Amino acid sequence: MSTPAEDAIRAEIAGHGPIPFARFMALALGHPAGGYYMGPRARPTRSGDFLTAPELHPIFGAALSRQLEDGWERLGRPDPFTLVEYGAGAGTLALAILEGLRADRSPLAGALVYAPIELNPHRLAELEERAASAGLPVIAPPGAGSAPAPVVGAVVANEFLDALPVHAVEIRDGRPREVHVAVTADGAFTELLLPPSTPAVAARLDALAAAGVTLAEGQRAELCLALEGWVAEVAATLSAGIVLVIDYGAPAPALYGPRRRAGTLMTYRGHTADGSPGAPYRDVGERDITAHVDTSTLARLLDAAGFAVLGDTTQAELLVACGLEGLIERERSRSTDLAAALLLRSAVMRLLDPRHLGGFRAVLAGRGLSAAAEATSPERSC
Ligand SMILES: C[S@@+](CC[C@H](N)C(=O)[O-])C[C@H]1O[C@@H](n2cnc3c(N)ncnc32)[C@H](O)[C@@H]1O
Repeated sequence: MSTPAEDAIRAEIAGHGPIPFARFMALALGHPAGGYYMGPRARPTRSGDFLTAPELHPIFGAALSRQLEDGWERLGRPDPFTLVEYGAGAGTLALAILEGLRADRSPLAGALVYAPIELNPHRLAELEERAASAGLPVIAPPGAGSAPAPVVGAVVANEFLDALPVHAVEIRDGRPREVHVAVTADGAFTELLLPPSTPAVAARLDALAAAGVTLAEGQRAELCLALEGWVAEVAATLSAGIVLVIDYGAPAPALYGPRRRAGTLMTYRGHTADGSPGAPYRDVGERDITAHVDTSTLARLLDAAGFAVLGDTTQAELLVACGLEGLIERERSRSTDLAAALLLRSAVMRLLDPRHLGGFRAVLAGRGLSAAAEATSPERSC
């Protein structure tokens, strides 16, 4: 039996012919009726398909609250300080940040205003309820409404950019070919290599080549062409403040290097990762599809948009720089409960493990910060 997302994709292919993989991914994840991220089920939880750092333990948010506090200080303690969160889910990260600020007795807790950006209406409703009971004021995202006004604050995106649709390319006879999705006579999805669907593919490959990164013959790679639009939106949203992106990712030389000749597409269902070539075409709409973020391109775009790139490091390094050690001690001293202690221990291991969440990339950028922040070493934050 086919899923609603599959039906929608088949109908589009029947009407228009083969579609770029990016369009397939956009429909599989975001189609209003049956897209993976649109339904009532909570995905990034223990009972869902994967576990994100904020859902793992609030200590992650408590550590990031130190990064926000640092930015707030360097902005001269603005009130309000707006936290714009992309892919906010049910608001778990923002609530942990607030809790962390309160535990630190930071006056930022009283200045914090939350502007969540989230596709899923079920998660948004949950978020609003949770934020209200925690006393966190929620406002519409700055870009929404008739008179969008840029804000001072922070833009945070944890495991958001990896879900943006990617254009998949393969180099054949020295030229880029783009993966398109078609339907066979018996109704199965199949891939075709066709000329690029947009000149933006060549433009991105040229930009990578200018930075010394070229794809090899036969290599497959994903290009997130939506990054340009996302950075432009962030630049229009934030008049001053910090941008913090944490995600699966790598700098371009590693992401497109010899160890990743097959690309980084990965799917998740029921806590099982599957990166096999056919995986995106199974259980369409019931399976997450992700691709690693090219942090070099992200940093280049942020720089071009007027942000100072303050760091491009690993999540583990970021958390340690934010004082994770002290936070672990604080958590331990709060409770003698064995289950809580074990949960904390296993969460910290996963948050720091370079093969798990610790290996995620963390990109930090800022604008309008005091000179001290601009001078922060690129490998350090907090
Ligand atoms: C992997 S989850 C991460 C959720 C949360 N940031 C966390 O770390 O637990 C990705 C979230 O981004 C949302 N999302 C995906 N594409 C989106 C888009 N284009 N606009 C807004 N939200 C989106 C999904 O609905 C989902 O809640």
